[in-house]
Amino acid sequence: MKLFDVYPLFDVTVDHGKGCYVWDEKGQEYLDFYGGHAVISIGHSHPRYLQTMQEQASKLVFYSNAVKNPLQVKLAEKLGPICGYDDYQLFLINSGAEANENALKLASFYTGKKKIIAFTHAFHGRTSAAVNVTQNPKIQAPINATFPVDFLELGDIKGVQEAIAKGDVAAVIIEGISGVGGIHIPTAEFMQELRKVTADNHVVLILDEIQSGYGRSGKFFAHQWFGIRPDIITVAKGIANGYPFAGVLISPMFAPVYGQLGTTFGGNHLGCALACTVLDVIQEEHLIENARQQGEYLMEGLKSMNIPGLKELRGLGLMIGIEFDHPYKEVRNRLLYEQHVFTGAAGTNVLRILPPLCITQRDCDIFLNRFAAAL
Ligand SMILES: Cc1ncc(COP(=O)(O)O)c(C=O)c1O
Repeated sequence: MKLFDVYPLFDVTVDHGKGCYVWDEKGQEYLDFYGGHAVISIGHSHPRYLQTMQEQASKLVFYSNAVKNPLQVKLAEKLGPICGYDDYQLFLINSGAEANENALKLASFYTGKKKIIAFTHAFHGRTSAAVNVTQNPKIQAPINATFPVDFLELGDIKGVQEAIAKGDVAAVIIEGISGVGGIHIPTAEFMQELRKVTADNHVVLILDEIQSGYGRSGKFFAHQWFGIRPDIITVAKGIANGYPFAGVLISPMFAPVYGQLGTTFGGNHLGCALACTVLDVIQEEHLIENARQQGEYLMEGLKSMNIPGLKELRGLGLMIGIEFDHPYKEVRNRLLYEQHVFTGAAGTNVLRILPPLCITQRDCDIFLNRFAAAL
């Protein structure tokens, strides 16, 4: 059998990793400023993570959601105070798209409505409802268009007010910082007005923090920079440092209904144990403060460089976009194949920097030197 060939691949085979470095099968070291698409939070092969994996796997990897699972309760009790949402409820699933799928369903159940407002270049995943609120027609199949979506410009509060005034909107979904769309940061003023107009009109506000959450922006959630509290928050990627796992944080205004949501694998024992260890390490190693500090250091370093064709530098914490006025492809290839640095990308012109949250100033210096050499 052949693989279903949907991924354009780099000619690199990653064999193992440690901290913010990975090695290929020939032993070549790479600086990982991509984090496997913002997934690696506490670093590759963290010893505490490996210990938890071994201990929990030797006890129990999985049992169904038909029995009590104290590890789910432990995770919820740990996550609540750390992220500032102790009064919210946690529903566990396996991937980011699934988190948004469930968030959108909850909003629709709650309001009895089905129109959703999303924003230009939004990316919320590839499953049915999640891809329908993703602004990329290339990845939407005809069967995905099952409910109406208004895509508005980020910052267009008037557009949001007018759409909501029609009375048929169930929810607004927005990324804390748009990732795949190219690192666009909403303003605090826009987010506060968005919170107000949704709350005043009983429209559910969903914050997709799948990429921007879990400390990456220098706060637990990116929306915490803007002083708002959404009704639903979706998390994935960094939550279990590479083990497939995700969550929906749900405001107390939603009453759970038996059987309304459910999953076979979501909240499994191994994933919960790993997610607890990730939170412990984030706290003990002060990784959120580190993300903020190293992010500021990187930004300063990038600003002081003479980057040919630079259009704009955007970012918060360790979620940084370098937008060129021309395609980044050659720079990114030189970074990977000559300088041995992994980076992310958005569209054709934005290089995305998404390293593990454990990077040091030395790693930032190495990156800045290699980036300069690749330009
Ligand atoms: C903001 C955002 N939402 C949702 C997703 C989808 O997550 P997953 O690929 O785990 O389904 C992604 C993935 O890149 C994302 O960046």
